[in-house]
Amino acid sequence: MRPKASILIAEDEAQAREALRALLEDEGYRVLCASDGAEASHHLAHSPVEAALLDIRMPSKDGLALLRELKDHPSPPAVLIMTAYGTSAAAIEAMALGAFDYLTKPLNFDELLIQLERAIDNRRKTSELEAYRSEEDAAQGLEIVGRSPAMQKLYKLIGQVSTTDSTVLIRGESGTGKEVVARAIHRHSLRGSRRLVKVNCASIPETLLEAEMFGHERGAFTGAAQRRIGKFQYAAGGTLFLDEIGELSPSTQAKLLRVLQEFTIERLGSNVTIPLDVRLLAATNCDLELAVREGRFREDLYYRLNVVTLTVPPLRERRKDIPELAAFLIRRAAARLKMQTPTLSEDAVELLAARDWPGNVRELEHCLERTLILGRSGVIRPEDVALDAGPPAADPVGGFPLDEGLHAAVARLERGMIERALAASGGNRTRAAGILKINRRLLYDKLREYGLD
Ligand SMILES: Nc1ncnc2c1ncn2[C@@H]1O[C@H](COP(=O)(O)OP(=O)(O)OP(=O)(O)O)[C@@H](O)[C@H]1O
Ligand SMILES: [Mg+2]
Repeated sequence: MRPKASILIAEDEAQAREALRALLEDEGYRVLCASDGAEASHHLAHSPVEAALLDIRMPSKDGLALLRELKDHPSPPAVLIMTAYGTSAAAIEAMALGAFDYLTKPLNFDELLIQLERAIDNRRKTSELEAYRSEEDAAQGLEIVGRSPAMQKLYKLIGQVSTTDSTVLIRGESGTGKEVVARAIHRHSLRGSRRLVKVNCASIPETLLEAEMFGHERGAFTGAAQRRIGKFQYAAGGTLFLDEIGELSPSTQAKLLRVLQEFTIERLGSNVTIPLDVRLLAATNCDLELAVREGRFREDLYYRLNVVTLTVPPLRERRKDIPELAAFLIRRAAARLKMQTPTLSEDAVELLAARDWPGNVRELEHCLERTLILGRSGVIRPEDVALDAGPPAADPVGGFPLDEGLHAAVARLERGMIERALAASGGNRTRAAGILKINRRLLYDKLREYGLD
């Protein structure tokens, strides 16, 4: 059995504190107690604590001040706030500061134990997710490579928007480095030491997206067995990155617009309004203006998001960066694959720099990865560069007998193309969608349809 968690109780009333201690120790928790805010702050800084029950009103430092401190904690506990005033402004502020929930006094011990378990469970899940994310961060490297004038212009803009809290729309073709730019903006901003939380609007089924963004109460919809904090609230104090914003459905667009207008959220199934404290970044490779004209994207939402626009230039417009990028990317891929970094010969670099790279930096990265895996020697020559080989031209309908019928033939072709694109992308769905020139949502639907997911 997993050892029970450590809980901090911060409560200035001795009697209430001891009652809680007895209750939690009976349940097998390890308990730390603090009789005021300063003592609680000391425990939080020096002992690993998985959950904290914080009284709102305490001498020397109140619960809200502690919550604010926790924003810079490397591994903050899940917090339940205890308040005597029901849905008071303070309780709401606590939620905005990232508390898991609040409990009203007099405490109902059964409810407390249930909430506590949920809070701990939620924290475990999210910290597993974060650990995974930071590994991903390390693997991705946070460096932006490139010294072309186009990139220098971009760095200047990143610097300018970083110091503000304004919403930034990051645009650019697929694979140009929009996410890299989003991370850079966040890291250089005042919120840089806080969380950067990403929501990929394309990869999450529409029915789950709202719950993912805004959270939900237990039983808010079928399958919502537990209360859950949404990404907006999870990002409190930090930055929320809405990726692939062009893929939002009309109904989610409407909800998002309302959230941005009022700057508050409500969890699905709840009527408690929580003020937002996030900085928004959004990215898209869509032609949003066209989407607006065609009625696929709300104009009002477009204006809300498009406060400042950064456009990441395609690789073919900054060929000067290709040698440096290639060297960086092959070194990174080699490190990831635990291989020796080969040398790129001058004419191999020339070959790379001459290509158009419709899939931009990502395509270059994949090409180099393939080259690395297939390569034998420590030097990469032009003939070693594993460019995508196009399929041989053939009679396009030769393999489809007429009696198969149009629908079955189209389905077979579609499935085959998808399988080939996945093979070419090494299983990377984003890239496969790019190769097929369809959006990711459609690819996910098709994968499900053909049982390929
Ligand atoms: N300037 C750069 N320096 C270093 N690496 C880069 C740079 N630009 C992009 N990359 C790398 O290229 C890959 C693609 O970048 P990223 O995911 O940011 O692109 P994107 O524009 O978000 O693509 P998509 O539209 O497909 O989501 C990543 O592995 C990223 O680390
Ligand atoms: Mg991206």
